[in-house]
Amino acid sequence: MARRKKIYEGKAKILYEGPEPGTYVQYFKDDATAFNAAKHDIIEGKGVLNNRLSEFFMNGLNEVGVPTHFIRRLNMREQLIRQVEIIPLEVIVRNRAAGSLSKRLGIPEGKVLPRPMVEFCYKDDGLGDPLVTEENIATFGWASQQDLDDMVSLALRVNDFLSGVFMAVGIRLIDFKIEIGRVYEGDYQRLILADEISPDSCRLWDIETGRKLDKDVFRQDLGSLSDAYSELARRLGVLPSNSTPITKPTLIN
Ligand SMILES: Nc1ncnc2c1ncn2[C@@H]1O[C@H](COP(=O)(O)OP(=O)(O)OP(=O)(O)O)[C@@H](O)[C@H]1O
Ligand SMILES: [Mg+2]
Repeated sequence: MARRKKIYEGKAKILYEGPEPGTYVQYFKDDATAFNAAKHDIIEGKGVLNNRLSEFFMNGLNEVGVPTHFIRRLNMREQLIRQVEIIPLEVIVRNRAAGSLSKRLGIPEGKVLPRPMVEFCYKDDGLGDPLVTEENIATFGWASQQDLDDMVSLALRVNDFLSGVFMAVGIRLIDFKIEIGRVYEGDYQRLILADEISPDSCRLWDIETGRKLDKDVFRQDLGSLSDAYSELARRLGVLPSNSTPITKPTLIN
């Protein structure tokens, strides 16, 4: 097979040129990073799980009418996506306090927020993805007021959908981060969900025990990240069939 053109290699994924114009192939790596890549490790199988999990969430979102870049999964580590012009903002939705919000404002982890809260961070690793205001965004032209309104409503729809999906399997969605991109259709532009939805970009706590099933397991050295992600995939019913652990010897006739 001819070598594919690599478009971009990030910390967790690689983008390759897709088979048709306007498409990319998104490859999920096993790399885990935290604290702006100050902490790094290879977690075998993470890319396979995140590819499956992102497929699962994006498919569900497409089904309820939330537009996403996801076209179809190609294999264990790759999915075909629609190419977008990424808006250089991380859109964060919080249902309970955790992470940088708790740190910044001294709010105890787990405190319920009176309503879901949307925050924007400017995507710039060199600056550590700083929190920015809507004024900053408008002034520097990262997004228009209309884009901002559309991003907030898209993010809240994603929040409602994901909260329900997780609730059904006994998991609380504390917060998550998404990336949104522009697609052009004739003279019009539209915003669609891009990048990934996976336990790398969500905080997920077991409702009964409080056990963390997300990247905080890695950030905070709470045990095996692959066990946590596998448990999540198992509960959602999206574990790849060939990774089911063999628990007892099987007789072959
Ligand atoms: N549909 C898409 N079209 C174009 N770019 C995309 C699309 N979906 C995701 N991306 C971009 O592809 C890259 C995925 O790589 P990865 O998530 O590993 O990057 P990263 O290390 O987090 O760094 P950064 O997001 O700062 O570039 C990101 O830059 C993301 O913004
Ligand atoms: Mg990323």
